[in-house]
Amino acid sequence: MIVNTELENKGNLFPSKIIDFKKDVDTLYFTTENDVILQLTVVRDSVLRFRYTTDGSFKNDFSYAITKYASTGYNKLEIKEDENCYEITTSKLRCEISKESLRVSIYDVKDGVLINQDETGFHWEENYHQGGNIVKMSKVSNDGESYYGLGDKPNHLSLKGKRYTNWVTDSYAYGKDTDPIYKAIPFYTGLHHDKAYGVFFDNTFQTSFDFSAERRNVTSFWAQGGEMNYYFFYGPKMTEVVESYTDLTGKPHLLPPMWALGFHQCKWSYYPETKVKDITATFRKLKIPCDAIYLDIDYMEGFRCFTWNKEYFPDPKRMVKELADDGFKTVAIIDPGIKIDKDYSIFKEALEKDYFCKRADGDYMKGKVWPGECYFPDFTNPEVRDWWSGLFKELISDIGIKGVWNDMNEPAVMEVPNKTFPDDVRHDYDGNPCSHRKAHNVYGMQMARATYQGLKKYSYPKRPFVITRAAYSGTQRYTSTWTGDNVATWEHLWIANIQAQRLAMSGFSFAGSDIGGFAEQPQGELFTRWIQLGIFHPFFRVHSSGDHGDQEPWAFDEDVTDIVRKFIEIRYQLLPYLYTAFWNYVDHGTPLLKSLVLYDQTDVHTHYRTDEFIFGEQILACPVLEPNAKGRRMYVPKGNWYNFWTDEIVKGGKEMWVDADIDSMPIFVKEGAIIPKYPIQQYVGEKEIKEITLDVYYKKGKEESELFSDANDGYDYTKGRYSLRNFSLTGRSSELIINQYKEGKYVTPYETFNIQIHGLPFDIAEIQIDNEAISLKHLKSNGTNSFVVDKNFSELHIIGVKSKP
Ligand code: NOJ
Repeated sequence: MIVNTELENKGNLFPSKIIDFKKDVDTLYFTTENDVILQLTVVRDSVLRFRYTTDGSFKNDFSYAITKYASTGYNKLEIKEDENCYEITTSKLRCEISKESLRVSIYDVKDGVLINQDETGFHWEENYHQGGNIVKMSKVSNDGESYYGLGDKPNHLSLKGKRYTNWVTDSYAYGKDTDPIYKAIPFYTGLHHDKAYGVFFDNTFQTSFDFSAERRNVTSFWAQGGEMNYYFFYGPKMTEVVESYTDLTGKPHLLPPMWALGFHQCKWSYYPETKVKDITATFRKLKIPCDAIYLDIDYMEGFRCFTWNKEYFPDPKRMVKELADDGFKTVAIIDPGIKIDKDYSIFKEALEKDYFCKRADGDYMKGKVWPGECYFPDFTNPEVRDWWSGLFKELISDIGIKGVWNDMNEPAVMEVPNKTFPDDVRHDYDGNPCSHRKAHNVYGMQMARATYQGLKKYSYPKRPFVITRAAYSGTQRYTSTWTGDNVATWEHLWIANIQAQRLAMSGFSFAGSDIGGFAEQPQGELFTRWIQLGIFHPFFRVHSSGDHGDQEPWAFDEDVTDIVRKFIEIRYQLLPYLYTAFWNYVDHGTPLLKSLVLYDQTDVHTHYRTDEFIFGEQILACPVLEPNAKGRRMYVPKGNWYNFWTDEIVKGGKEMWVDADIDSMPIFVKEGAIIPKYPIQQYVGEKEIKEITLDVYYKKGKEESELFSDANDGYDYTKGRYSLRNFSLTGRSSELIINQYKEGKYVTPYETFNIQIHGLPFDIAEIQIDNEAISLKHLKSNGTNSFVVDKNFSELHIIGVKSKP
C-alpha cells in the first residue's frame, strides 16, 4: 500500500528554518534547525540537482542512472542572500530558497517567469517498519500546465490528472490503465507558458507521481525509501529538456548495427531448426525484407540459460551460419533465473562463487520461472556482471548469435502474489549493500548491462545488440527495449503508439511493441495497421505467444502479405534516414520520435494530441487505429507538408481528414526536407549500394537536412570514419539551390545521388552542378524531376524557365 502525501498523512515532518549555509565549488549546503540539509548542485546553467537528508549527513552518493559522460560546467554562478531567502543565479536560471521553509522557487533568468515552485516542498515520514523515510516533494501545478514522460505508462500521453507508480512489474496482457508495468523511469517534463522543464527523481525505491490528481494545483512525487534526490532541467524547449535528461542518464554508447533497424520476426517459439528455416525461407521466397530471426526459450535444454536443446537444434553453429548466409541475424533469449540443478555447470559455478541473491537471513532467493525452481544472480554485484558477460563467449563467438534478448528481468517470479522477489532479498548494489526495496527497479537494468558487456566483448569488431524488458533510467545506454506482453486488440495498437512516443520523450528511443499483439491473435486488418505503425518504431519486431496461432506476414490473406511487404519495403528504403536520426540520438540525445508537443510546443493544439508523431526530424506519421477505416482525422502541425503518397501540399495548423484505405496510412513530409533512401533490399547488406536517392521536397524558403553514413557496423565511426552530409535547401519562385557541407573521413560506397524533386513550381531551364551546367537530356519529368549527380557536389542550382501560375 502506498502511503500518500501530506493530505492523507498526519505523520509528516517538515524542514524548519535555515541556520547554516556553506558553498563548495558548484555545491551549496543549506542546513536547518532540525538537521535537514539541502545539497544543491549546479550541474549546468540549466540543470540543478536537489538532494535532501533529514539527519545531518548524506549516505554514499551512488547512482546507476547517471552516466560518467554527462556534461557538466556552467558559465555563471552567483549567490546572494537577503533576509528572506538565498538566491542562486546561473546564466539560465534564478533559484530562490526560502530561509523560513527551505522551499524552492525557480525562475527563467531572462524574463523572470516563475517556472517551478515548491508547494509544501520537501517533507517526509519516518518509516519505523522498514527504516529510513518515505521522502516526499510537492510542487505547485499551474493552470494550463501539462505533463509528459514516465517511460512506458500505457495511457494518454498527457499525464495530468493521474497518479502513477514506478515499480518494474511483469504484466502479462496489461491494459490501458495497468500501472505499474515493466519500466521505472521517474522522469517527467512539465510545460506551461511555452516553457518546458524536467524533473528526474533519481531514486530506485518504489516511486509515485501525482500530477494534479489529488489536488488540482499540486503535483507531487515521493518514494518509499532512499533520498529525496532530484534533478531539475530547464528548456525552455521541451526537446532541450529531453536532451538534457538523456545527456545526464546517457545516450546509447554505440550506434546499433544497421541491421538491427531492419525488420525482426519472432515467436514463442520457433523450433525445431526446420521450423526456423521454413520461416526464413518463406521471407526470402515471398520477398519480404527481414534481418533478424529470434529463438525464444525452447531452444534451450530444459530452459537452462546458455544451453541448447540438441534434439531441436542438433548443430546450432551450422544453423546460425546458414541463416547468416541468407542474411538472417539470429537473436537468442536469455533470462535471469538459473535452474537449480547440481549437474548444470552455470548453476554450479554461480553457487560456488556465491553469485546468487540471498534472503535477509542467508537463504538463497528461490523462485519459480520457466525452468522450475531457480536461483538468481545478483546483477548489482560488478563481479557477477563480469562473470555473466563471460558466459556469452560460446553463444556469440563460437555459435555466431548476433543479438541477445533479456526477458523476465523485472525479475519475474511465478506463482507468488507480488510476482517478484520479496522485499528482504539482499543485493550488493555495487558495494552499497541494500534490500530488494532499493534494488528491484535496477535489477533488470543491471542484467541488461552485464549482457551488453558480454556482447560488446564477443561481437567485436561488430557492434552489440541487446533487448531488455525491464528498465530503469539510463538503461538506454546499453540496450533496446520492447513494451512487453501486449494483446492483439485495437486498443493495444493505440497503447503501442503512445508507449513508443512516451519512451522516446523519456530518453529511451530504441523501443517498439510486439507487432500484432503478443497475447491472442489479430485479424489481418489489425496486423496490417500495426505493421504500418511499426515501420516508424525504432525497434521493429513482430512477436507473439505460441498459443494463439501464426503471426507471420503470410499468415493472413494475400492482400495482407502484399500490403505488409510494401510497408516493410518503405522501412528498408528509409533506413539511411532512420540511421541518420539514430546518429543524432546517439550524438545529442535527440529523441527519434517526437510527439507533436515535442515538435511544436508553441502550438497549444499539440499539447493533448496522442496519435500523430514526427519520425526523425521531417516525417509526420499517424497510424489508423480503428477497424474498417478509409482514413482518419488528424492534426497536421503548423507549416506546409507533402502528402507522402500524392505529393499534394497541405497547410498545417489544423485538424483534417486524410484518406488512408487499408493499403495506405497518413504520412507527410515536411516541405524543404531532403529524405535519403536506399533501394529495397531483402536485408541490410544484401546489395552494395552505389546510389542513394534523395527525395527533395521543394520549399519556398530554407530547410536543413542531414545524411549520416558509416560502415553500418563496427567501431570505425567512433574514430572519425563516418560521413556526415548537411544539405541546405533554399527555394525561390524560380530557383532551387542545395548546398552540401561534408564532414568525416569515411568514403561511402555510394558514388552518386539520384535526386528526385517533388513539388517544383517551375519548369527546369538549367541545372548547374558546382557552377557547371549539365545536359538536361536525362531529366525525367514524370511527375517528379529526377537526375543523377556525383555525391560530392557542393552546390546544386536548379533554374526555372518561368513560374507556373
Ligand atoms: C515473456 C515475454 O514477454 C515474451 O516476449 C516471451 O515470449 C515469453 N516470456 C517466453 O519467453
